[in-house]
Order: sequence, then structure tokens, then C-alpha cells
Amino acid sequence: MAKRDPHRKSPQKTAPTPLHNLSQSFQSHQPISGYMDQKDLLQTYRSYYHPISSAKGESLATEALNQMGKRGLTPSHVSQSIKIVDFGSGTGGFVEGFLRGISAYFPESPREIFLYDHSHHALTSASEAVRKILPETNPVHSRVTRFPGHLTLPDPIDWLLQANLLAENLEKSPEMLLLLEEAFLRLSPGGVMILAEPADRVSSRNLLNIRDLLLDHLQDLHILAPCPNFRDAACPALLNEKDWCHEDRPFHFSPEVHSMASSVGHIKDALKMSYLIGIRSPNRPLSHSSQEHSTLRLVSELKNERGLGWGIFCDGEERKKVRILTRHRNEVNKSFWSLHRGEEILQPIAGQFIARTGFLDLLPDAPVIRLGDSR
Ligand SMILES: C[S@@+](CC[C@H](N)C(=O)[O-])C[C@H]1O[C@@H](n2cnc3c(N)ncnc32)[C@H](O)[C@@H]1O
Repeated sequence: MAKRDPHRKSPQKTAPTPLHNLSQSFQSHQPISGYMDQKDLLQTYRSYYHPISSAKGESLATEALNQMGKRGLTPSHVSQSIKIVDFGSGTGGFVEGFLRGISAYFPESPREIFLYDHSHHALTSASEAVRKILPETNPVHSRVTRFPGHLTLPDPIDWLLQANLLAENLEKSPEMLLLLEEAFLRLSPGGVMILAEPADRVSSRNLLNIRDLLLDHLQDLHILAPCPNFRDAACPALLNEKDWCHEDRPFHFSPEVHSMASSVGHIKDALKMSYLIGIRSPNRPLSHSSQEHSTLRLVSELKNERGLGWGIFCDGEERKKVRILTRHRNEVNKSFWSLHRGEEILQPIAGQFIARTGFLDLLPDAPVIRLGDSR
């Protein structure tokens, strides 16, 4: 057996940083137990994940309000205090961004915030974050709670928020579903639920499953986004185990976030998330009755290969590959070639395409009309 040289130094291994540890634990869906109660991990979360969640909260608040505006829906609380519940608040990034997002829409109405988390330290940080952007007179309640469990909820609730909580409780999905149902039933008419989860396949499919079950169980729930056309149909991505649905919204982060991201091999140029925005309403928001006004949402990257441009689109009930031959690229379909995941186009009408099972082949004179952004 070869002898070890007693003078030879063993190669220096650098200890993993708190960010490495957190990032790996999230990616493997095995969160470090009580990470919000460990000072270095809480601070790391605060510096890196918090601003990312905050940007998502702001973007989704804006989208919810835009979607409602387009449909003539009025949020329930214009003249009263706005009651906002946030499950799994962490350091408060998501709710902080949400509050920024609604600030121009409701400049005057007082807010009342209810934060829930099992970490007392996280809640302290969340309350501080929220306090910084709300007037002193707006109450902020933090409630140490371990989900699923008995909770004291306000009644009614105007906005129900939950970000990155299901991904940490995959094995408790049935109980988390019940919790969401209980909270949803406290939403006032016109009240809105916003759920956001990581953009990976497991988290996305888990959210989509919960989405379908919520739709089955809650008559008054209607999906405002991301599913187009207000059909409230079962999610077609669940039909094939390989499919999922996530968002990839271009975004500029601070140099600090970029530098932390690169230390763990992340590229931070977009808000990546799976999400759901639903409204409580006795009536389904007006869906487009004519095919001319239905839309298709791009739920994949747009690919340009082998003489074809193609992408997977969803109409709220079915997914289809929409294709255009590269040699048919022209003035009327030029929007197609720069579409970004999450964008919507008007559904082509009869005579503008050839339908094959699972495919829509657009004819050269079919116009591609991109819709205004609601995000
Ligand atoms: C990934 S963080 C998300 C924080 C915040 N919503 C955001 O998006 O930045 C998840 C938070 O949920 C809390 N959490 C996870 N499982 C929980 C449970 N079963 N009961 C209560 N809190 C939980 C954790 O303590 C943590 O603060």
C-alpha cells in the first residue's frame, strides 16, 4: 500500500457558504430545519432571497390589478382598510413587494397585515420590513404558527398571499390544500389569492395539482392568471408528467444580488416562478365568447430550429405546438419571432392555420397579434 507523504498538505477544501447550503437545500426540496432561526442563514436569506421575492410580490400585485382592471372587476376594499394575510412570511420579502405593487392603486386606504410563520425570528424581520413602508397607524400582526394547524384568521380577508411555502411542505400538500381552502372561504367577494412557488418541475406540478383541486372544491374561485381565457379548466400541463408551467419574466436585480447569485452559479436575469392568481367571485369573469378574441399563452421558450419557429401555447384548456415555417417569416407574423415565455397572442381563426393533432401550423398570411402586457 502506498504511504502518505506526511509533509504533503491535503488540498484545501473551501467550506460551503451559508448561501450554498441554503440554495442546495431549496433545490433538493429538503430545507434546512429551522433555517430562519439560525442567524447566518436568516441574514443570507434576507440579503439574497428576500429582494427576489419582493420583486415577485410587486410584479404579481401589478398583474392581479391589471387583470382585474381589464375585466372591470373592482377589488373588494377600495374604501375600507385592506386586510392582507401572508402565509409563510419568512423575512417578509413577498408581502413587502406586494405592498409596493398596490401602493399606487390604493394610495389612501389603511392596510392591516397578518403575517404567519413558524419562525419567530423570521416574523420579527418581516414586521420590520413591512413597518418600513407602512404608516405607523397601520396594524401589523405577526403570528407564530406551524402549518397545518389551528390558526386564527381575520374575517374577511381581502388579499391572501403565499410564496414559497408549498415547496417546503410537499409531503403535507393535502393539509396545505385544506388550509388554503379555509383561508379562501374568508376572502371577501372580489378578494384575491396570490400563490407563488419556485419555477422547478416538482414545485410547479405541485402548485398545478393544488390549483385543480381548489377549482374542484371552491365554486367561487376563478383563475385570473396565468391561465388565459378564464375557462377554469383542469390544467393541461398535468396530463404529461414531463410538463410544467412557469414564468420567466426579465428583471434587473441589484449588483449585490448578481454577485451572490454568481457565487452559487445562478443567473439572475429574470423572475422565475410558478404562480397562480385567483379571485373570489360568484360569477366567472367574462370569458371571450368568440374564438376571435380568445388568446394563446406561450408556455415554453420560442424555438427556432430546422426551418421552423415553434412554441408551446396554452388556451386555458389545451396545449398546442404553434409552428411557422422560417421561410414564411414576414410582416404579418413578425411578432411571433420575438415572443417571450408568458406572452399572449390572439388565437388564430379558421382559415389561418392547419390543425394537426397537438399542432397548429400557421399559414403565411396568418397575422400574429401580440397582446398588451398585463404584468
Ligand atoms: C422560503 S421561505 C418564503 C418566505 C417568503 N414568503 C418569501 O417568499 O420570501 C418559507 C417560509 O415558510 C416558513 N415555513 C415553512 N414551513 C412552514 C410550516 N409548516 N409552518 C409555518 N411556517 C413554515 C419558513 O419558516 C420560512 O420562513
